[in-house]
Amino acid sequence: MNSVAAALLVWTLTSPSSSGHGRGDAWPTHRACSSGGLEVFYQSCDPLQDFGLSIDQCARHIQPSLNIRFGIILREDISKLFLDIALVSGGSSFLNFSYPICEEDLPKFSFCGRRKGEQIYYAGPVNNLGFDVPQGEYRALLKLYNENHAMVACANATIICS
Ligand SMILES: *[C@@H]1O[C@H](CO)[C@@H](O)[C@H](O)[C@H]1NC(C)=O
Ligand SMILES: *[C@@H]1O[C@H](CO)[C@@H](O)[C@H](O)[C@H]1NC(C)=O
Repeated sequence: MNSVAAALLVWTLTSPSSSGHGRGDAWPTHRACSSGGLEVFYQSCDPLQDFGLSIDQCARHIQPSLNIRFGIILREDISKLFLDIALVSGGSSFLNFSYPICEEDLPKFSFCGRRKGEQIYYAGPVNNLGFDVPQGEYRALLKLYNENHAMVACANATIICS
């Protein structure tokens, strides 16, 4: 993504939607990817802000090195950053993961250590184990939080694998 596209992404994140974003309204649903039999939609569950995410090479076989683009304005410092993922089915979670993204002595990404108020735009690989997504429709809750358990981002997602 070039700098114009990155600027546009940030602009869409910080501009109110055309219908206006007020108390009680949900953020719009975004499509993170759709190809190769896999569709991923997400919606920010942080009442204060939306964020941008897209996944390249989307397919039901998740590659061990997956390229993503992620843009957000930090509401908190992130010298440490953790991701919690809960997979939900029929209203209750059946699988929880917790994954450290930034640790003080092991900063995995260039944006680790950035401060509150700064804008992050990351485009690059995310390493994972590589796996096949089983067929079906899943819901997931994702939470990013820092060393003080302050929320950095929150999303609920729907994953459809056909
Ligand atoms: C997020 O959760 C809300 C409320 O449960 C739901 O209506 C919406 O469809 C979900 N969005 C996605 C993308 O899963
Ligand atoms: C996953 O985490 C949620 C929230 O922390 C908790 O309510 C739920 O019981 C956990 N589920 C499993 C399967 O451990």
